[in-house]
Amino acid sequence: MRIQLNYDLSAQNTFRMKVFCACWVEYETVKELEGLNFDKLPKPLLHIGAGSNLLFTKDFPGTVLHSNIEFIKYIDMGLQEVPVMVGAGVLWDNFVAETCRHGLWGAENLSLIPGEVGAAAVQNIGAYGVEVGDLISGVVCFDLQERKKVRFSRAECRYGYRDSLFKQPEFRGRYVVTSVLLRLTRQYSPRLEYKGIREALGIPGQAGNDAAADPSRVMADPIGHLTPQQVRDAIIRIRRQKLPDPEELGSAGSFFKNPVVSREEFARISPDGSAPHYDLPDGMVKVPAAWMIDRCGFKGAVEGGAAVYEKQPLVIVNQSGEASPEDVLALEQRIINGVQERFGVTLHPEVEHI
Ligand code: EPU
Repeated sequence: MRIQLNYDLSAQNTFRMKVFCACWVEYETVKELEGLNFDKLPKPLLHIGAGSNLLFTKDFPGTVLHSNIEFIKYIDMGLQEVPVMVGAGVLWDNFVAETCRHGLWGAENLSLIPGEVGAAAVQNIGAYGVEVGDLISGVVCFDLQERKKVRFSRAECRYGYRDSLFKQPEFRGRYVVTSVLLRLTRQYSPRLEYKGIREALGIPGQAGNDAAADPSRVMADPIGHLTPQQVRDAIIRIRRQKLPDPEELGSAGSFFKNPVVSREEFARISPDGSAPHYDLPDGMVKVPAAWMIDRCGFKGAVEGGAAVYEKQPLVIVNQSGEASPEDVLALEQRIINGVQERFGVTLHPEVEHI
């Protein structure tokens, strides 16, 4: 356990914002977490993972907590469906790498997403047609209000697009995820429907429409003997082409959510229907924010040390390495205003503002 006062958070957020918190607590076990004297810690409390989806907008007056609970326990490797219990502090991609090495399907499309397992379960991380909520069977938490252990089934977690029970205003900050139960499978089940995956694997024929996955359009896999590792390698190649490596260039991944609009609104956004889009089962249409931002001419736009990433304009980067929260917020506002003016759509940040 490590407790430090007036702690510099720049190494604890991938945006590399230089802000301070009044107190920093890092614990290794659930016992240590339960044993903390919460009444004495500066408030409010904020639990973070790898800080890969956060924007600290100023110094934090309370206590920031971080888990180092790191274990990966395969409950029964002999089963077709393999349940795995994972500590909240495990780096998500280390978990994915290991399951792919074991030949287990399920997490491979979520390769190279920065962050830790606990935060992944809160944020319902997703990419290339898969969301982590699809794989989760349960989440174990410490309830800061009742000061006791609680378990949530997948249904209770109320997963939606980058959303969960843990993000609802009435529960926000109440539950600290300590471990997550995921279910992977030995059953051959590659998910190749998202644009670009087949190409990256050298498989002919592209299924699906532009922006996201549609399982009903999955075409027969003409190879039939892919491994999770091969799919992981392809996903890593795709991501490396488009997204900045947080080690080299500070960012928090997609800065905005992809907006969901009605058919009528979409017809207004794109009268000839040529804009990339994805028809949702409920009749609504998801339009890539990256496309709108691109159309507004914001690629490469700069505010102080912050910039819109050239290769993927959904990402704001800490271009100079010394961007301030104000720079990022100014750029965010410029983009929101620009997209609002041109398309009449309000973009909402995906990155959590603290
Ligand atoms: N596009 C442009 N111009 C560009 C780049 C993209 O017009 O310069 C358009 C293209 O039509 C492209 C579309 O935007 O097809 C969508 O881009 P892409 O499929 O790469 O994904 P995204 O919608 O930008 C989402 C997630 C990513 C996830 C990818 C892949 C959100 C907010 N973002 O991005 O998640 O990796 O799909 O599944 O849902 C993250 O959450 O941090 C993240 C990176």
